[in-house]
Amino acid sequence: MKELAPVLTGPEAAELILESIPNPVIMINNDSTILYINKSMESFLKADRCELVGKPLVEALYKGLTLTDGYHNPVLETLITGKEFSNRPVEIKTIFNVTPRPMLISTFLIKDGEGRVAGACAFFTDNPGGKGTVPPFEPPSKRLETVYAFAEAIGARDGCTMGHSEKVAQYAKMIAERMGQDKETVEQAYLCGMVHDVGKIGIPESVLNKEGPLTGEEYELIMGHSRIGANILARISWLNDIVPIVEAHHERYNGNGYPMGLKGDQIPVLSRILAVADAFDAMTSDRSYRKAFSLEKAVGELKRNAGTQFDPEVVDVFIDLLKEYS
Ligand SMILES: [Fe+2]
Repeated sequence: MKELAPVLTGPEAAELILESIPNPVIMINNDSTILYINKSMESFLKADRCELVGKPLVEALYKGLTLTDGYHNPVLETLITGKEFSNRPVEIKTIFNVTPRPMLISTFLIKDGEGRVAGACAFFTDNPGGKGTVPPFEPPSKRLETVYAFAEAIGARDGCTMGHSEKVAQYAKMIAERMGQDKETVEQAYLCGMVHDVGKIGIPESVLNKEGPLTGEEYELIMGHSRIGANILARISWLNDIVPIVEAHHERYNGNGYPMGLKGDQIPVLSRILAVADAFDAMTSDRSYRKAFSLEKAVGELKRNAGTQFDPEVVDVFIDLLKEYS
């Protein structure tokens, strides 16, 4: 007979269960960085979990492909939209496993004692034969690969995670879809979200990561990032179409933005969408100098600035989407 361990209680027992089950489990924080990986997930990823904890989810779990939505990451979708999945068929490909593995994924929001979203959790089971999934797993396009590389570079540079770019990209895509944009424009919305801040690569680190107020000169430097980003992307023939969109992502609806001071419809519609997606994610994420805004406060800010900073139609569409998911 096996020797029995002393009786465990509370969180210690819960962790032991997670460590003992054969199902891979992963938990992410509300900034989409990895909070916890159980032993089974660690062996599935073929990586040292100590090195992955704290890193953006997209570094560990590359992509899930589902029947209805094409490429996306269900755990991230749960975090962003609040929509939880039960035994959803996916094919998981990781940066450590090139061959996709058919699995069923269940996702849950993690909430604190006051009901605020603290992160999300994914629980996997094998799906032999891949019933319900769409084979074969398509590799990311050249455009996607390029924007992922840029998003990685931006994250490495400005200290914020690749999760920010991914979330802005997902919000922008959802808004563009809901506004009835065509498939190509919706794809552009996602790509632009991933690379909107690529120009930050050209801003001195001391300014980019400065804690405390910026001087006028430093602010001028930061404002240069939308034009620098446009110049970088203009060098890549297969991303030429998104150059004007990235360049205009800090234009304001009333003409008080930069770099050109465009106004209303002069601003490309995807730039107007990006402005809302970017501001919402910034407001609802923790920063070194402040805690994340509540959903209500962030929505209040969007409404307060509709018609001045933001396109009011985009704000209305986004608030409607948020209502559906909250
Ligand atoms: Fe920006």
